[in-house]
Amino acid sequence: MTTELPLADARRHTITLAASPKGAAICRRIARRQLTVWGLNSTHTEPYYSALLIVAELAANAITHGRVPGRGFELHLALTTTARRGTTLRIAISDPRGDRSPVLPTIHTPNAQSGRGLTLIDALCDRWGTIPRHPNAKTVWAELDLATTHDSPDAT
Ligand SMILES: Nc1ncnc2c1ncn2[C@@H]1O[C@H](COP(=O)(O)OP(=O)(O)O)[C@@H](O)[C@H]1O
Ligand SMILES: [Mg+2]
Repeated sequence: MTTELPLADARRHTITLAASPKGAAICRRIARRQLTVWGLNSTHTEPYYSALLIVAELAANAITHGRVPGRGFELHLALTTTARRGTTLRIAISDPRGDRSPVLPTIHTPNAQSGRGLTLIDALCDRWGTIPRHPNAKTVWAELDLATTHDSPDAT
């Protein structure tokens, strides 16, 4: 028997965006709006701000390292409740570069201008990873477990 089945209907939001700085900006704005609609900005303030940073870094990576000219990228947000973890926010960004994966840098140079996005994501979320997406794309995802001491976010 699995404990991973959602206890309640998951709240989900998916949108496809252009792989451009403007697309990334729209992605950040849509995520902020959706998380606010779900009430996280008031009920789970810390994960809310972490989620906004994670969306920004994943979107930046999708439009730089994951970009294929003429193809977009996809943002997927889901709020799921399971017996094992309680309520979890999942952020997933899919891009069309299935042949390349994110690499968490192991060495950090103090003055480096890049290479901090995944380190930041790794520090802010509870778990993250990459999964292949048919036919030749991939999804980079990160999950934040929401503390149960707060009120449940509004269902919409
Ligand atoms: N969506 C992606 N597709 C392919 N490669 C990626 C993706 N995201 C990250 N990477 C790889 O992982 C490395 C580390 O990412 P990151 O920590 O965000 O640093 P930066 O984006 O500044 O290079 C990138 O330099 C890139 O090689
Ligand atoms: Mg980056």
